[in-house]
Amino acid sequence: MSNALPAALIDTHCHLDFPEFDADRAAVLARAGEKGVGYVINIGSSLAGSRNSVRLAEEYDNVFATVGCHPHDAKDCSDADTAELRVLAQAGKVVAIGEIGLDYYRNLSPHDSQRTLFASLLALAGELGLPAVIHSRDAHEETLGILKEQKIERAIVHCFGSDEKFLRECLDRGYYVSFTCNITYKKADQLRQVVRNVPLERMCLETDAPYLSPEGFRGKRNEPSFVRLLAEEVARIRGTSVEEIARATTENAKTFFNLRGISV
Ligand code: NI
Repeated sequence: MSNALPAALIDTHCHLDFPEFDADRAAVLARAGEKGVGYVINIGSSLAGSRNSVRLAEEYDNVFATVGCHPHDAKDCSDADTAELRVLAQAGKVVAIGEIGLDYYRNLSPHDSQRTLFASLLALAGELGLPAVIHSRDAHEETLGILKEQKIERAIVHCFGSDEKFLRECLDRGYYVSFTCNITYKKADQLRQVVRNVPLERMCLETDAPYLSPEGFRGKRNEPSFVRLLAEEVARIRGTSVEEIARATTENAKTFFNLRGISV
């Protein structure tokens, strides 16, 4: 089955710096390209991960980087670490600060330290004129509160869930949302309803690889090539063509992350 698509899709959130990809990173990126996923944004989720994210962007033409520290690790992120993140954020091909935010579901760091780190990295995003990639779990009101306090205008909420009220508030503030392969899960009817209703001009696609493999591949490693399958599922849910979803989401990613010099 060929039905080839031009290199038109972008995985806006993956973690190719993770050890899961140590053995075959170049092959994973090549496979993405074969499926029409021309570019990926590698998300820094710790200091070490952010260093590696920047390195990957230097090494591969089709990789952009973000720099950040996940709320899970907030308690371990020292002032010296945030100072280094500030330096890393000014490297070439760094297109956002994140992922950052609040996670009151797993609670791996105290809420206070999550809030403090989130606010300080949002302030950095504001200062450097970069958009923010947001992780929010069971903390939507506080997440929005801190985004407002920091006067953040450019944010994307990654791995968007099924909370319609949160969606409305994000859209009202001009934010983008991105969906990952969990929209393919059998029990995800409510989430598919959200996918159906989001304005196309605010939607991006992501894998969050190595996490959240699509239905049929669960338990295995996710990877950027699956954005193709994700685009097909979004097209099916919205009753439109995969070409339209690819065109719109790629345009959105280019606009939101201010991607320059790319050929899609
Ligand atoms: Ni992530």
